[in-house]
Amino acid sequence: MKVTVVGAGNVGATCADVLAQREIANEIVLLDIKEGFAEGKALDIWQTAPINLYDSRTTGSTNDYSKTADSDVVVITSGLPRKPGMSRDDLIATNAGIVKTVTENIAKYSPNAIIIIVSNPLDVMTYCAYLSAKFDSKKVFGMAGVLDTARYRAFLATELNVSPKDIQAILMGGHGDTMVPLPRYTTVSGIPVTELISAEKLDEIIERTKFGGGEIVKLLGTSAWYAPGAAAAQMVEAIVRDQKRIFPVCAWLQGEYGFNDIYLGVPVVLGKNGIEKIIELDLNTAEKELLKESAVAVKGVMDVLDNMNVTNA
Ligand code: LAC
Repeated sequence: MKVTVVGAGNVGATCADVLAQREIANEIVLLDIKEGFAEGKALDIWQTAPINLYDSRTTGSTNDYSKTADSDVVVITSGLPRKPGMSRDDLIATNAGIVKTVTENIAKYSPNAIIIIVSNPLDVMTYCAYLSAKFDSKKVFGMAGVLDTARYRAFLATELNVSPKDIQAILMGGHGDTMVPLPRYTTVSGIPVTELISAEKLDEIIERTKFGGGEIVKLLGTSAWYAPGAAAAQMVEAIVRDQKRIFPVCAWLQGEYGFNDIYLGVPVVLGKNGIEKIIELDLNTAEKELLKESAVAVKGVMDVLDNMNVTNA
Protein backbone atom coordinates (compact mmCIF):
# COMPACT_ATOMS: atom_id res chain seq x y z
CA MET A 1 0.00 0.00 0.00
CA LYS A 2 1.19 3.48 -0.85
CA VAL A 3 0.01 6.53 1.07
CA THR A 4 0.92 10.12 0.25
CA VAL A 5 0.70 12.92 2.76
CA VAL A 6 0.74 16.37 1.17
CA GLY A 7 2.07 19.07 3.47
CA ALA A 8 5.06 18.24 5.67
CA GLY A 9 4.11 20.72 8.38
CA ASN A 10 3.25 19.61 11.89
CA VAL A 11 0.00 17.81 11.02
CA GLY A 12 1.32 16.14 7.86
CA ALA A 13 4.58 15.01 9.47
CA THR A 14 2.75 13.67 12.53
CA CYS A 15 0.35 11.77 10.28
CA ALA A 16 3.25 10.26 8.29
CA ASP A 17 5.03 9.34 11.52
CA VAL A 18 1.96 7.52 12.91
CA LEU A 19 1.44 5.73 9.56
CA ALA A 20 5.07 4.57 9.66
CA GLN A 21 5.28 3.62 13.34
CA ARG A 22 2.11 1.57 13.06
CA GLU A 23 3.08 0.11 9.68
CA ILE A 24 -0.24 1.19 8.21
CA ALA A 25 1.37 1.46 4.75
CA ASN A 26 4.67 0.06 3.53
CA GLU A 27 5.34 3.11 1.34
CA ILE A 28 4.73 6.62 2.63
CA VAL A 29 5.49 9.72 0.56
CA LEU A 30 5.61 13.11 2.22
CA LEU A 31 5.37 16.05 -0.22
CA ASP A 32 5.79 19.74 0.44
CA ILE A 33 6.30 22.85 -1.65
CA LYS A 34 9.14 24.16 0.56
CA GLU A 35 12.53 23.07 -0.84
CA GLY A 36 14.02 20.12 1.05
CA PHE A 37 11.44 20.26 3.85
CA ALA A 38 9.57 17.01 3.11
CA GLU A 39 12.85 15.21 2.39
CA GLY A 40 14.22 16.33 5.75
CA LYS A 41 11.13 15.29 7.73
CA ALA A 42 10.91 11.98 5.86
CA LEU A 43 14.57 11.20 6.50
CA ASP A 44 14.15 11.91 10.20
CA ILE A 45 11.06 9.66 10.35
CA TRP A 46 12.83 6.87 8.41
CA GLN A 47 15.73 7.02 10.89
CA THR A 48 13.35 6.02 13.69
CA ALA A 49 12.70 2.67 11.94
CA PRO A 50 15.83 0.90 13.28
CA ILE A 51 15.02 2.19 16.78
CA ASN A 52 11.33 1.43 16.78
CA LEU A 53 11.71 -1.70 14.66
CA TYR A 54 9.38 -1.24 11.76
CA ASP A 55 9.65 -1.59 7.98
CA SER A 56 7.44 1.15 6.54
CA ARG A 57 9.56 3.41 4.36
CA THR A 58 8.98 7.16 4.35
CA THR A 59 10.41 9.31 1.57
CA GLY A 60 10.09 13.02 0.85
CA SER A 61 9.60 15.12 -2.26
CA THR A 62 9.70 18.83 -3.01
CA ASN A 63 6.58 19.28 -5.12
CA ASP A 64 7.37 16.42 -7.52
CA TYR A 65 4.00 14.71 -7.81
CA SER A 66 5.37 11.92 -10.00
CA LYS A 67 6.81 10.51 -6.74
CA THR A 68 3.26 10.19 -5.42
CA ALA A 69 2.02 8.25 -8.48
CA ASP A 70 -0.45 5.43 -7.88
CA SER A 71 -1.05 6.19 -4.23
CA ASP A 72 -3.92 4.24 -2.70
CA VAL A 73 -4.75 6.95 -0.17
CA VAL A 74 -3.74 10.63 -0.09
CA VAL A 75 -4.02 12.90 2.94
CA ILE A 76 -4.02 16.62 2.15
CA THR A 77 -2.91 18.84 5.01
CA SER A 78 -1.61 21.78 2.95
CA GLY A 79 -2.53 25.33 3.78
CA LEU A 80 -1.89 27.95 6.39
CA PRO A 81 -2.78 27.11 9.99
CA ARG A 82 -4.76 29.44 12.22
CA LYS A 83 -3.15 32.22 14.23
CA PRO A 84 -4.70 33.36 17.52
CA GLY A 85 -7.91 35.31 16.90
CA MET A 86 -8.50 33.76 13.47
CA SER A 87 -11.44 31.52 12.72
CA ARG A 88 -10.94 28.55 10.43
CA ASP A 89 -13.06 30.43 7.86
CA ASP A 90 -10.54 33.30 7.73
CA LEU A 91 -8.25 30.94 5.84
CA ILE A 92 -10.62 30.25 2.97
CA ALA A 93 -9.16 32.28 0.10
CA THR A 94 -5.54 31.28 0.57
CA ASN A 95 -6.18 27.66 1.36
CA ALA A 96 -8.73 27.10 -1.43
CA GLY A 97 -6.12 28.03 -4.05
CA ILE A 98 -3.60 25.67 -2.44
CA VAL A 99 -6.03 22.77 -2.03
CA LYS A 100 -7.21 23.10 -5.63
CA THR A 101 -3.68 22.92 -7.07
CA VAL A 102 -2.68 20.03 -4.81
CA THR A 103 -5.85 18.04 -5.56
CA GLU A 104 -5.50 18.47 -9.32
CA ASN A 105 -1.96 17.13 -9.17
CA ILE A 106 -3.02 14.21 -7.00
CA ALA A 107 -5.93 13.37 -9.33
CA LYS A 108 -3.54 13.42 -12.28
CA TYR A 109 -0.96 11.04 -10.78
CA SER A 110 -3.24 8.88 -8.62
CA PRO A 111 -6.58 8.67 -10.44
CA ASN A 112 -7.77 5.81 -8.22
CA ALA A 113 -6.78 7.30 -4.86
CA ILE A 114 -9.03 7.95 -1.92
CA ILE A 115 -8.48 11.53 -0.74
CA ILE A 116 -8.78 12.68 2.87
CA ILE A 117 -8.76 16.42 3.47
CA VAL A 118 -7.40 17.92 6.67
CA SER A 119 -6.88 21.55 5.52
CA ASN A 120 -9.08 24.25 7.07
CA PRO A 121 -11.78 25.48 6.90
CA LEU A 122 -12.30 21.74 6.78
CA ASP A 123 -15.79 21.24 5.39
CA VAL A 124 -15.30 23.79 2.65
CA MET A 125 -11.79 22.65 1.71
CA THR A 126 -13.22 19.15 1.33
CA TYR A 127 -15.83 20.59 -1.03
CA CYS A 128 -13.04 22.41 -2.90
CA ALA A 129 -11.09 19.15 -3.27
CA TYR A 130 -14.21 17.32 -4.46
CA LEU A 131 -14.78 19.94 -7.19
CA SER A 132 -11.11 19.87 -8.16
CA ALA A 133 -10.59 16.07 -8.17
CA LYS A 134 -13.82 15.24 -10.01
CA PHE A 135 -13.82 11.87 -8.20
CA ASP A 136 -16.81 10.03 -6.81
CA SER A 137 -17.78 11.67 -3.50
CA LYS A 138 -17.31 8.33 -1.70
CA LYS A 139 -13.59 8.82 -2.36
CA VAL A 140 -13.20 12.45 -1.27
CA PHE A 141 -13.98 13.28 2.34
CA GLY A 142 -12.70 15.22 5.31
CA MET A 143 -11.13 14.48 8.69
CA ALA A 144 -12.75 16.36 11.50
CA GLY A 145 -15.16 14.16 13.43
CA VAL A 146 -12.48 11.68 14.50
CA LEU A 147 -10.49 14.59 15.98
CA ASP A 148 -13.44 16.39 17.54
CA THR A 149 -14.77 13.14 19.01
CA ALA A 150 -11.29 12.35 20.38
CA ARG A 151 -11.25 15.71 22.15
CA TYR A 152 -14.72 15.07 23.59
CA ARG A 153 -13.69 11.57 24.70
CA ALA A 154 -10.43 12.81 26.23
CA PHE A 155 -12.27 15.49 28.24
CA LEU A 156 -14.77 12.87 29.44
CA ALA A 157 -11.98 10.45 30.38
CA THR A 158 -10.30 13.15 32.46
CA GLU A 159 -13.54 14.15 34.16
CA LEU A 160 -14.68 10.58 34.91
CA ASN A 161 -11.15 9.36 35.64
CA VAL A 162 -11.59 6.33 33.38
CA SER A 163 -9.73 4.99 30.36
CA PRO A 164 -10.33 6.94 27.15
CA LYS A 165 -10.51 3.53 25.44
CA ASP A 166 -13.85 2.88 27.12
CA ILE A 167 -15.53 6.03 25.90
CA GLN A 168 -17.54 5.73 22.69
CA ALA A 169 -19.11 8.79 21.20
CA ILE A 170 -20.36 10.32 18.01
CA LEU A 171 -20.42 13.93 17.00
CA MET A 172 -21.91 15.49 13.88
CA GLY A 173 -21.98 18.71 11.86
CA GLY A 174 -19.26 21.05 10.67
CA HIS A 175 -15.71 21.31 12.04
CA GLY A 176 -16.35 24.58 13.78
CA ASP A 177 -18.10 26.09 16.74
CA THR A 178 -21.45 24.71 15.54
CA MET A 179 -20.35 21.06 15.73
CA VAL A 180 -22.89 18.83 17.43
CA PRO A 181 -21.64 16.41 20.13
CA LEU A 182 -24.42 13.90 20.87
CA PRO A 183 -24.77 12.90 24.57
CA ARG A 184 -27.54 10.46 23.65
CA TYR A 185 -24.97 8.53 21.60
CA THR A 186 -22.16 8.73 24.18
CA THR A 187 -21.45 5.68 26.35
CA VAL A 188 -18.76 4.52 28.74
CA SER A 189 -18.36 0.78 28.17
CA GLY A 190 -22.03 0.64 27.24
CA ILE A 191 -23.20 2.80 30.17
CA PRO A 192 -25.03 5.93 28.99
CA VAL A 193 -22.75 8.84 29.90
CA THR A 194 -25.70 10.71 31.41
CA GLU A 195 -25.75 8.13 34.25
CA LEU A 196 -22.18 8.99 35.19
CA ILE A 197 -22.01 12.77 34.93
CA SER A 198 -24.23 15.73 35.79
CA ALA A 199 -26.01 17.57 32.98
CA GLU A 200 -24.08 20.77 33.86
CA LYS A 201 -20.69 19.08 33.68
CA LEU A 202 -21.58 17.38 30.40
CA ASP A 203 -22.69 20.72 28.94
CA GLU A 204 -19.38 22.23 29.99
CA ILE A 205 -17.48 19.42 28.24
CA ILE A 206 -19.57 19.83 25.10
CA GLU A 207 -18.81 23.55 25.02
CA ARG A 208 -15.11 22.90 25.59
CA THR A 209 -15.14 20.36 22.74
CA LYS A 210 -16.67 22.85 20.31
CA PHE A 211 -13.81 25.24 20.98
CA GLY A 212 -11.19 22.50 21.46
CA GLY A 213 -9.13 23.54 18.43
CA GLY A 214 -9.21 27.21 19.49
CA GLU A 215 -8.10 26.31 23.02
CA ILE A 216 -4.89 24.87 21.57
CA VAL A 217 -4.37 27.78 19.14
CA LYS A 218 -4.55 30.11 22.15
CA LEU A 219 -2.00 28.07 24.10
CA LEU A 220 0.44 27.44 21.26
CA GLY A 221 -0.06 30.38 18.91
CA THR A 222 -0.76 27.87 16.10
CA SER A 223 -3.03 24.89 15.44
CA ALA A 224 -2.85 21.47 17.04
CA TRP A 225 -1.02 18.60 15.34
CA TYR A 226 -0.66 15.44 17.43
CA ALA A 227 -4.37 14.64 17.57
CA PRO A 228 -5.20 15.90 14.03
CA GLY A 229 -2.29 13.86 12.57
CA ALA A 230 -3.23 10.73 14.51
CA ALA A 231 -6.91 11.13 13.57
CA ALA A 232 -6.10 11.29 9.85
CA ALA A 233 -3.83 8.24 10.20
CA GLN A 234 -6.65 6.31 11.89
CA MET A 235 -8.90 7.00 8.90
CA VAL A 236 -6.15 5.84 6.53
CA GLU A 237 -5.82 2.64 8.56
CA ALA A 238 -9.57 1.92 8.31
CA ILE A 239 -9.26 2.22 4.51
CA VAL A 240 -6.04 0.31 3.84
CA ARG A 241 -6.99 -2.50 6.24
CA ASP A 242 -10.61 -2.47 5.06
CA GLN A 243 -11.72 -2.32 8.69
CA LYS A 244 -15.29 -1.07 8.09
CA ARG A 245 -14.92 1.26 11.08
CA ILE A 246 -17.69 3.64 11.98
CA PHE A 247 -16.33 7.17 12.26
CA PRO A 248 -17.82 10.63 11.98
CA VAL A 249 -16.50 11.90 8.63
CA CYS A 250 -17.09 15.04 6.60
CA ALA A 251 -19.10 13.52 3.73
CA TRP A 252 -21.02 14.74 0.68
CA LEU A 253 -24.73 14.48 1.46
CA GLN A 254 -27.32 13.75 -1.20
CA GLY A 255 -30.58 13.58 0.73
CA GLU A 256 -29.20 12.05 3.94
CA TYR A 257 -30.52 13.86 7.02
CA GLY A 258 -32.60 15.95 4.62
CA PHE A 259 -29.57 17.80 3.19
CA ASN A 260 -28.42 18.04 -0.40
CA ASP A 261 -25.14 19.15 -1.99
CA ILE A 262 -23.32 19.84 1.23
CA TYR A 263 -20.24 18.44 2.97
CA LEU A 264 -21.09 17.79 6.62
CA GLY A 265 -19.88 15.55 9.44
CA VAL A 266 -21.97 12.37 9.70
CA PRO A 267 -21.31 8.79 10.84
CA VAL A 268 -20.06 6.57 8.02
CA VAL A 269 -18.58 3.11 7.49
CA LEU A 270 -14.98 3.45 6.25
CA GLY A 271 -13.39 0.63 4.29
CA LYS A 272 -11.33 -0.08 1.20
CA ASN A 273 -13.81 1.71 -1.05
CA GLY A 274 -13.76 4.88 1.06
CA ILE A 275 -17.17 5.79 2.43
CA GLU A 276 -19.05 2.52 2.11
CA LYS A 277 -22.19 3.70 3.85
CA ILE A 278 -23.57 6.84 5.45
CA ILE A 279 -25.40 5.95 8.66
CA GLU A 280 -28.59 7.88 9.30
CA LEU A 281 -29.27 8.21 13.02
CA ASP A 282 -32.78 8.73 14.27
CA LEU A 283 -32.12 12.21 15.66
CA ASN A 284 -34.65 13.90 17.95
CA THR A 285 -36.03 17.36 17.26
CA ALA A 286 -33.41 19.23 19.31
CA GLU A 287 -30.52 17.33 17.70
CA LYS A 288 -31.96 17.91 14.22
CA GLU A 289 -32.20 21.62 15.00
CA LEU A 290 -28.52 21.79 16.06
CA LEU A 291 -27.45 19.88 12.96
CA LYS A 292 -29.45 22.25 10.79
CA GLU A 293 -27.75 25.27 12.40
CA SER A 294 -24.38 23.69 11.71
CA ALA A 295 -25.35 22.95 8.09
CA VAL A 296 -26.43 26.57 7.58
CA ALA A 297 -23.02 27.76 8.87
CA VAL A 298 -21.12 25.37 6.59
CA LYS A 299 -23.29 26.18 3.58
CA GLY A 300 -22.58 29.89 4.14
CA VAL A 301 -18.85 29.28 3.73
CA MET A 302 -19.40 26.93 0.78
CA ASP A 303 -21.27 29.79 -0.90
CA VAL A 304 -18.29 32.08 -0.26
CA LEU A 305 -16.10 29.54 -2.07
CA ASP A 306 -18.58 29.24 -4.95
CA ASN A 307 -18.64 33.02 -5.32
CA MET A 308 -14.84 33.18 -5.41
CA ASN A 309 -14.84 30.98 -8.51
CA VAL A 310 -11.54 29.47 -7.35
CA THR A 311 -12.49 26.00 -8.49
CA ASN A 312 -13.58 27.12 -11.99
CA ALA A 313 -10.44 29.10 -12.70
C1 LAC B 1 -8.02 21.77 15.02
C2 LAC B 1 -7.63 22.18 13.65
C3 LAC B 1 -6.65 21.22 13.06
O1 LAC B 1 -9.22 21.56 15.25
O2 LAC B 1 -8.74 22.36 12.86
O3 LAC B 1 -7.14 21.65 15.87
